[in-house]
Amino acid sequence: MSFLIKNCLSRSVCRSHLLRANAAISIGRRNNAATPTLGTSKKLFTPGPLMVTSRVKSAMMADIGTRHSDFEYVIKYVRSAVLGVAGVSADEYSTILVQGSGTFANESAISSMFSKSSGKVVVMQNGTYGRRMNDICALAGVRTLPIPMDLDKLQHTLAQNKDITGVVMVHCETSSGVINPVAAVGKIVKSRFPDISFMVDGMTSLGGLPVDLSDIDIMTASACKCLQGVPGISIVIAKRDAVEKCRYRSNSMVLDIAPQHDSFENNGQFLFTPPTHVMLAFREALLEFEEEGSMEGRSKRYRENWNVLTKEMADIGFKQLLDNREHPDSFIVTTFKYPKNPRFIFDEFYHKLSSAGHVICPKRTNYPNSFRISTIGDIHVEDVHSLINSIRGVCTEMRISLPLVEGNMQ
Ligand SMILES: Cc1ncc(COP(=O)(O)O)c(C=O)c1O
Repeated sequence: MSFLIKNCLSRSVCRSHLLRANAAISIGRRNNAATPTLGTSKKLFTPGPLMVTSRVKSAMMADIGTRHSDFEYVIKYVRSAVLGVAGVSADEYSTILVQGSGTFANESAISSMFSKSSGKVVVMQNGTYGRRMNDICALAGVRTLPIPMDLDKLQHTLAQNKDITGVVMVHCETSSGVINPVAAVGKIVKSRFPDISFMVDGMTSLGGLPVDLSDIDIMTASACKCLQGVPGISIVIAKRDAVEKCRYRSNSMVLDIAPQHDSFENNGQFLFTPPTHVMLAFREALLEFEEEGSMEGRSKRYRENWNVLTKEMADIGFKQLLDNREHPDSFIVTTFKYPKNPRFIFDEFYHKLSSAGHVICPKRTNYPNSFRISTIGDIHVEDVHSLINSIRGVCTEMRISLPLVEGNMQ
């Protein structure tokens, strides 16, 4: 009886959900100023998901069994190629692939690695993603000491607090484009406190910027950023002894690192259903990465894109948040200040650019009155020239004269 009531209830809840969803969709259709343009091809200037080649997308046109030996081959290839990208050996490190976006890898690493009952983790932060690391720790029940990205402050904090068990930071803080000093932090932590675990979010840097992992216990990354795969798989690269430290700590079934590592090592399989098509695409993306000349070739193209973007934006008067001379590696994503011109309305600028076939980062950044453009992914200098032409055209449409005048900038 109670089953019947529950069943009826859940059916009527479902029905009312459906009705509400349908109503929302039709209201959305009526009110939505921007008509969906699905299926039309636009260039993404976003830091991931980003443009991927047809070759990578075509690799998904195959169905493959999760427990079939062909798929085991794909997993093996991907795990090993990722270590190659990171420049580390399989004797010392393991790749644990995590179904989901980058935050899944971060949550997996944090909740598996740090104790909830003792100690504290220092979270160095200077933007949205650093703050998110702190939030993930808090949700996992890990106590934190958030500090700014300041090496002196770090030294002082480590010296003053004897109960610190970990230091966590983001390499490329995608909310501004700043590249944080991973090597310097790693040296401070490991030269004086070798038992403290060091974790780095390398989400938007792996494949684009070299990182020396020798002082890093766990680094997280993504398939759909500089490695140019499609979204759906995130990555944890862990020292093998760090995997051992992770045992029996996580209270998550699907995000626990150690059992997934064991399964990869012992029978070559995911514990839970993997996104098979995404993995096929990722393998192809890793092959392309190698063919492009690995890290050197890829970052060379990204730097060329960035040079064109920053020079041509400067020519039309847009000012950057960061100075290229002080931030010579900030080529993953670039933050520009809004022109002071009252006719500049970011949403309008964004939608007009999108109609012209160029999609930049939609969200406002960590910094007020600024917007971001990324030039990673399957983007080439001719695409950047074309984006700049669109920006010129959109500014003319918005009656913003170019070049912007110095005094008119925020
Ligand atoms: C530095 C950084 N960390 C983590 C993430 C993961 O975020 P999400 O799970 O929303 O993809 C991103 C995504 O862009 C990022 O840039």
